[in-house]
Amino acid sequence: MRMRNKYRKPTTFRCNAGSRCSLSAVVWGLVGCVLMLHLYYLIHHHDGVGGEIQMRLNHPLLTRDLQEVEEEGFQIPPPKGKRSPRAAKRRPKRPTTLIEEFLDESSPLRYLFFPDQRTAINPLKEAENDSLCFYPGRMWLDTNGKPIQAHGGGILYVKRPGMYYWYGENKDGPTYHAHKKGAARVDIIGVSCYSSKDLWTWKNEGVVLMGEETNETHDLYKLNVLERPKVIYNDKTGKYVMWMHIDDANYTKASVGIAISGSPTGPFEYLYSKRPHGFDSRDMTIFKDDDGVAYLIYSSEDNSELHIGPLTEDYLDVTPVMRRILIGRHREAPAIFKHQGTYYMITSGCTGWAPNEALTHAADYIMGPWETLGNPCIGGNKIVRHTTFFAQSTFVVPLPGLPGSFIFMADRWNPAELGDSRYVWLPLTVGGAADQPLEYNFGFPLWSRVSIYWHQRWKLPDGWSRK
Ligand SMILES: *[C@@H]1O[C@H](CO)[C@@H](O)[C@H](O)[C@H]1NC(C)=O
Ligand SMILES: *[C@@H]1O[C@H](CO)[C@@H](O)[C@H](O)[C@H]1NC(C)=O
Ligand SMILES: *[C@@H]1O[C@H](CO)[C@@H](O)[C@H](O)[C@H]1NC(C)=O
Repeated sequence: MRMRNKYRKPTTFRCNAGSRCSLSAVVWGLVGCVLMLHLYYLIHHHDGVGGEIQMRLNHPLLTRDLQEVEEEGFQIPPPKGKRSPRAAKRRPKRPTTLIEEFLDESSPLRYLFFPDQRTAINPLKEAENDSLCFYPGRMWLDTNGKPIQAHGGGILYVKRPGMYYWYGENKDGPTYHAHKKGAARVDIIGVSCYSSKDLWTWKNEGVVLMGEETNETHDLYKLNVLERPKVIYNDKTGKYVMWMHIDDANYTKASVGIAISGSPTGPFEYLYSKRPHGFDSRDMTIFKDDDGVAYLIYSSEDNSELHIGPLTEDYLDVTPVMRRILIGRHREAPAIFKHQGTYYMITSGCTGWAPNEALTHAADYIMGPWETLGNPCIGGNKIVRHTTFFAQSTFVVPLPGLPGSFIFMADRWNPAELGDSRYVWLPLTVGGAADQPLEYNFGFPLWSRVSIYWHQRWKLPDGWSRK
C-alpha cells in the first residue's frame, strides 16, 4: 500500500538566519567601522587576534572530543537452540537480526534500545558530572520530571531572549492499530513546545497546537495524523509559522498543514491543509535561508522522490515554483542545514517504524541539483551505523558559537509504545576529507564530509553558545 509510511517523522526547520550572524557583524557593533576594517584585516592576515575571535577560529580544538570514534558493544544473541521444522511452522521464528530484536517488544535486548526510567536524563537530579550530558536513547525528563514529548520535532532559536524552542508531536497516549493492516498509531494530542537556554534543561511550555476532540471533519481530529511539526519565524509579519504533515489514519490525505502564532509558545491557530503543488506530501520539513526565503521539502509520488519549493513571503503557502529532487531514491525524514554557502540534507530510507541507513545529500543551490554523498554515521559498530543508531533523522540544530558543528536530532521509534520513543541527539560536523559522491556527476565540486559521531554519553564543548 502506498501509505506504508506512517512512520516517522522528521524535520527541519532552520532556525533563524539571525543566529548565523557573522563574525564581522558582531565586531561591527562593538568597534565601529574603521576599527572593524582594521580588525578584519588582522584576522585574515595575521594569526592570533585573541579573545573570542581566536576561540572561534580554533573551534576544531573544542570539538575534537566529539569526533572521537566510540565503539559500541551490541551483540547479536546466540540462537536459542534448534527447532524442528514443524515447530518453526507453528510459532513465529525468533528474531535473528538486531533489527528484528529492536522491533520485538519482548526481546531480552530491549533494555539496550530503550533503557528504563532509572537511567533517565533528569535535570532536576543534580548529578554533578552528568549535568549537561546527552545520553542518546535514554529517557529524557523535563523540568517537571516528566518524559519529554516532542517526537518528530525541530528546534527554533529565538535570539532576543536567547532561547531554544523544541516543537514535536505529543504522543503521550495509548498505541494501537486502527485496523488489521493499519500501522501502530497514537491519537493526535497536539504539538508540544519546550524551552531551554542550554539545549539540555527543557521546560514544558505545554501543547501549543491542540488536537481536536470532537469535530470529525477537522484536520486535527484525534483519529487523524499530525507528524513532524516545524516552526520558523517570519521577520516581515512578526509571526511564528508552523508547518506539519497532516494525514488521515490510512495516510491517503497526504497533505501539509499550516498554523500561526504571535508567540513562540503559542497558542497556534490552525489555518488549513493542502496538497502542495497538487502533489501528495508525507514526511516534510521547512528551512529558512539566510536571505529570509523559506522552503518546503516533502516526500512525494508515494515517497519515491522529494519535492522542494519556496514559500510565499508570509510563509503561509507555497509558491508555484517546485523542483523534483532525489527522484526514484525513496527517501524520507529530511533534515536540512547550511554551512558556508552549501546546503546539506540528511534523509532516511522508507521502512516504516524500522530503522535504516541515513544518507547525506549536498547542493550549491537549495533548489538543486542535489547530490547524494553517503552514510554520515561514524563510530558504534556496523549495525549501529547502518540503522542511524536505531533512529531516524528529524532535524539538525546549528550551534551559533561553533560554525561547522551541529546537533543531529533523530527519533528512536518504539512501535510497541510510540509515546516512549526516544531521542537520539549526536554531534554532527561538516569538514575534513571530501566524500566521493555516490554517483558520478561531471562538473560538481567535491563536497566536505558530513559526519555524525556515535557517543553513549557526550556534552557540548564549553563556549558552544558564544557569539
Ligand atoms: C561521575 O559519577 C559517577 C556516578 O554517577 C561516578 O562513578 C564517577 O566516579 C564520577 N566521575 C567523576 C569524574 O566524578
Ligand atoms: C469543524 O471543523 C470544520 C473544518 O475545520 C469547520 O469548518 C467547522 O466549522 C467545524 N465545526 C464546528 C462545529 O466547530
Ligand atoms: C482505512 O482503511 C481501512 C482498511 O482498508 C478501512 O477499513 C478504513 O475505513 C479506512 N479508514 C479511513 C479513515 O479511511
